[in-house]
Amino acid sequence: MSSPVEQIKERLSIVEVVSSYIKLTKAGKNYKGLSPFSNEKTASFYVSPERDMYYCFSTNQGGDILTFVEKMEGVDFAGALKILADKAGVELVHESREVRDKRTRLYEALEKAVNLYHLFIQQDDEVMQYLKNRGITEESIKRFEIGYAKNDWHSLHEYLKKEKFSDSDLIDAGLIKKIEPKVEQGGAHKPQEKEGDRFYDTFRGRIMFPIHDSASRAIAFSGRILPKLDDGKTGKYINSPETALYNKSKILYGYDLAKGGIKKFNFSVLVEGQMDVVMSHQVGYPNTVGVSGTALTRDQLTLLNRLSKNIVMAFDADRAGVASAGKGAALALSMGMDVKVARLPEGVDPADLIREDKNKWKEAIKNSVHIVEFYITQLKNAGYDDRKFKLAVQETVLPFVVQIKNTIDQAHFIQLVARETGTTEDVIRSEVERMGSDINNNQERVVDTPETVQEAPKRDSVEMKLAQIIVWQESLPEPAIDVEAVRNSFEAVVGEDHMKELLNIPEEKKQQNIFKIELLYEKDQLLKEDVDELLHHLTYRLTKEELQETIEALRKAEVQGDDDVSSTLLKKSQEIAERLKKFVSK
Ligand code: CTP
Ligand code: MN
Repeated sequence: MSSPVEQIKERLSIVEVVSSYIKLTKAGKNYKGLSPFSNEKTASFYVSPERDMYYCFSTNQGGDILTFVEKMEGVDFAGALKILADKAGVELVHESREVRDKRTRLYEALEKAVNLYHLFIQQDDEVMQYLKNRGITEESIKRFEIGYAKNDWHSLHEYLKKEKFSDSDLIDAGLIKKIEPKVEQGGAHKPQEKEGDRFYDTFRGRIMFPIHDSASRAIAFSGRILPKLDDGKTGKYINSPETALYNKSKILYGYDLAKGGIKKFNFSVLVEGQMDVVMSHQVGYPNTVGVSGTALTRDQLTLLNRLSKNIVMAFDADRAGVASAGKGAALALSMGMDVKVARLPEGVDPADLIREDKNKWKEAIKNSVHIVEFYITQLKNAGYDDRKFKLAVQETVLPFVVQIKNTIDQAHFIQLVARETGTTEDVIRSEVERMGSDINNNQERVVDTPETVQEAPKRDSVEMKLAQIIVWQESLPEPAIDVEAVRNSFEAVVGEDHMKELLNIPEEKKQQNIFKIELLYEKDQLLKEDVDELLHHLTYRLTKEELQETIEALRKAEVQGDDDVSSTLLKKSQEIAERLKKFVSK
């Protein structure tokens, strides 16, 4: 039987799926439209029904139906598979029936819990009043499905038992807990009797914020204690334990509701708490998500980066959390994201600020500055003398500059730091380089990002392009160029081994490359000329390199007084120079 992915591709055409998001018009055997990933005015987004692929020239990326849904919906591969499987009516078989049924029951239990808590809050004027006093509207309570867990030990458990959920499912969903039998003296356990098992609800006397996955399924809760019930013995917030459904380092609070907003505004707003997220959405920032008191992870940033590389972090500059927020920011920079900081007044979080005056929050976001500028300003205001200021910049600001992926952007900030500290760009640049290589040598790692700090060596683009053209033409029944000849010339210049390496493109990538290059040459009669030009260019460059190497070897041989070798090399270099001359006159 074919795999789920194959079945999906058999049943759904890429044109049909893409058309449900953007308008496509026919262009030859392909379709084209405005890229959903950029703000372009002329269509450069192509879909090939024949190849089951898309390619977007404005963002230089392409892929298949699954990649497209991942990007559009901001979900991962599994999420896209799920969405498309539902559409195509394909049953996903990678999970055993047992495991799948269990997951389904956990989702159902959580959904029922969300509904019960939501019902409870609507019946409780006092709790409703508390939220209203904090500035949360009834509409937000509905939209975020905020609820209330009554201050007793068994409400939820009793209800879900009646709904035929088993105790073990409810424990696995993180909704109830078992009272552990007391450990007797000497470590022996009391024998457990079935009826002796006692359970209690995980959340009591708390305002309940359901946490959803990117497909909007409830997977956990964060519960805030109702202030009048706070005896200081439990945390202000209690969160669901990690479960089969909930992995807190992979989830952002509010992400499912924020996806559209992030794409539309082309930036995300990152805050710390549930209250902040809800309030920010309420006042016109539906692109806000929350980290809920944990350090920002690569997985979370990846979720955001899929929708927009721009992120505005709301920082309370004077909190202890600055260090960990900074770490997240550096991680984001190292992933090529653009990180700005919205500066908040001392000791005030976004929820407080919004309640005070929503315009202050809007201003904070509008006036957000790049994280490097943010830290420089911080240090400027710290009242240090000149020398201390410079050292502080080196210590706190440069680590961020080091992480910036885009070299032009990095150069910009090197310039800025040089100006602000009254130093030269050269000094700052060499310091940034030193710190960068320290990271590469694993001596001092600013952030834990081994795979991003070491960039893969760049492949020669001319070689790559020729390889792609060869692979493409070879896949055609009637190639437009003499592939055999081109292949031979190519091999003659780059060598057999290197050519094999270049042509050895993974199947997925291969199809994508072919599609892209085919689009580039679709209306172009110039393929043959281009190929000649590319080959010419490549041969010329490699010949020049060969000459340089030979001359270098010649010099060495002369120094060593090795006459035989010298004369051979001299002849060789004259011969190469001859070839090179012909090249130029050609
Ligand atoms: N948090 C948590 N556990 C705690 C405290 C906080 O998980 N014991 C998380 C919650 O997600 C909380 C966020 O960290 O929203 C920020 O914490 P804090 O600033 O203390 O709470 P606020 O969001 O300001 O909540 P409130 O305004 O209701 O006090
Ligand atoms: Mn608060």
